Amino acid sequence: MNATAAATPYAMIGGEPMVSAIVNRFYDLIEGDPAYAKLRAIHAADLAPVRHGLTRFLSGWMGGPRDWFERGGCVMSLHRAFPIDRELADEWSDAMGRAINDQPGLEAHLAEKMREALTHMAKGMINLSLAD
Ligand code: HEM
Repeated sequence: MNATAAATPYAMIGGEPMVSAIVNRFYDLIEGDPAYAKLRAIHAADLAPVRHGLTRFLSGWMGGPRDWFERGGCVMSLHRAFPIDRELADEWSDAMGRAINDQPGLEAHLAEKMREALTHMAKGMINLSLAD
């Protein structure tokens, strides 16, 4: 493999340690900050499985190991089971944005690209209007 092929976003941000740091910060915020109470409430009491799941998903999504995708799941379909309105999607994006911002070792341009793409994905998961 040459140097260009190896330069995935996953490698560029620092691989597994950085992905884990983002995901752990994200769920720590959701557990600890009342601003995310609505989002916390739709998660199971034990956040350990979802910490693991989101870490494995983001790793594959950024060009790292693809074990999460090899299970055959679809991240958009699995969220159809949850009633997601704009407020909930905004809570998710806000917590993720903060978790990314809280990583001093993360290069600013990559951090910005991640925030943009993940906010876009969260918006795509909205399946309920606030007026319903
Ligand atoms: C739009 C707002 C979102 C809401 C309300 C939401 C909610 C949830 C909930 C309730 C779970 C299950 C947790 C549990 O059983 O405790 C979950 C799991 C998960 N979510 Fe989200 N989510 C959102 C956005 C996203 C986005 C944008 C991504 C991807 C970047 C994502 C990736 C995942 C993954 C990978 C899992 C674990 C699935 C597994 O490994 O089985 N979520 N989410």
